[in-house]
Amino acid sequence: MVKIYGEISLPGDKSISHRSALFASFSDAVSEFENFNFNNDCSATLNCIKQFGINWETHGDKLVIYGKPLEKWRESSEILNAENSGTTTRLISAILASLNFPTEINGDSSLQKRPMKRIIEPLTLMGANIHSKNGYLPMKFIPSQSLQGIRYELPMASAQVKSAVLLAGMFAKGQTEVIEKTPTRDHTERMLDLPIKKNPDGSRSVFSSKEVKIPPLSMSIPGDFSSAAFFIAAALLIPDSELLIANVSLNPTRTGLITVLKQMGAELHIDTLREKPEPIGNITVKYSHLHNVSIDAHIIPNIIDEIPILAILAATAEGKFELHNARELRYKESDRISAMVNNLKNTGILAEEFEDGFKLSGGQHFSGGKVQTFGDHRIAMSFAIANLIADGEIVLDDPACTNVSFPQFWSVLEKVTID
Ligand code: S3P
Repeated sequence: MVKIYGEISLPGDKSISHRSALFASFSDAVSEFENFNFNNDCSATLNCIKQFGINWETHGDKLVIYGKPLEKWRESSEILNAENSGTTTRLISAILASLNFPTEINGDSSLQKRPMKRIIEPLTLMGANIHSKNGYLPMKFIPSQSLQGIRYELPMASAQVKSAVLLAGMFAKGQTEVIEKTPTRDHTERMLDLPIKKNPDGSRSVFSSKEVKIPPLSMSIPGDFSSAAFFIAAALLIPDSELLIANVSLNPTRTGLITVLKQMGAELHIDTLREKPEPIGNITVKYSHLHNVSIDAHIIPNIIDEIPILAILAATAEGKFELHNARELRYKESDRISAMVNNLKNTGILAEEFEDGFKLSGGQHFSGGKVQTFGDHRIAMSFAIANLIADGEIVLDDPACTNVSFPQFWSVLEKVTID
């Protein structure tokens, strides 16, 4: 059998890359980002800002952005194309709502099925004038009078919604406060250095306003933890494996999977190298005998993108696995609850779907079979890892959809797979 062995470093975190490009575009400065992730999603963000006359250039994996305040952005009659990217759409909407000329944004057929009401509602409360197709793309933004700050309690745990409201707050009159009951990824507040308050009921408030002075944004972007998760899983699953993942994001709002895997018995060693502006370090992982554990509702937003690969690990780990409180998975690049359960079944694993999760018995074997990815990069990469331990072959209908977040996935996998 092959093993997973060696040392890798990964392209920059997708969430941080999107935010780097967007925040730098409206800051009155030149910003430089090393290890920027030029995947399809982040390229969509770059193409959108270019349409408004924001210049950027690339030097290898470095991105240089020449930002301009919104008043200096150039009107564009072309419809923006967010392609497959929910983060592009939801974050840039805050800017589109604040521009003094009309704009329109659309995306691919998967993005057209994803809910936009979650940002249309708060932005409309702030005074934005948005026309959509019943809460779905395409969305048209008609200039309105200056937006007004709001106090907004997030109805769902979503960092994209939190970020959209906070960003709009940076162009609005007065103060904006976003309250979240469950902590979601905090890159926006970290990168913009926004004030934060812990509330007596345990919730958290983040504030923004026109007064916020954008701090210097230039940084070397930590490797993407969500991409690392696939290789962590591969090393855990295959005997004799040992892998070092260098310079990867260790932001605690992203690394919930480390907590869960340690509870499952994973041999993981974490070495923090730097805390600011974004925590970064090295992860060493060795093959481990895993047992399933219960997943606390509170940690779900911090493992949300890793649940597909966690399901692959859970299928072979000892004991029963049952996930609830994860309905948000249905609104991702595919309906990830039904995509995972159906593809597990197609590849030989018995699993049962719930409205807000799924369950399976551990200790099963992947027999092989066909996987329908629905163009969802994380479904594709999860089953590519399952293929390493399957009795027969697991065949993906669209292996290239990994380009959405991680174009180097197949070459990195080849590099660490040792005979
Ligand atoms: C993201 C937030 C999460 C995550 C997505 C990226 C972000 O989405 O699933 O991949 O960069 O803010 P939600 O905000 O919809 O939970």
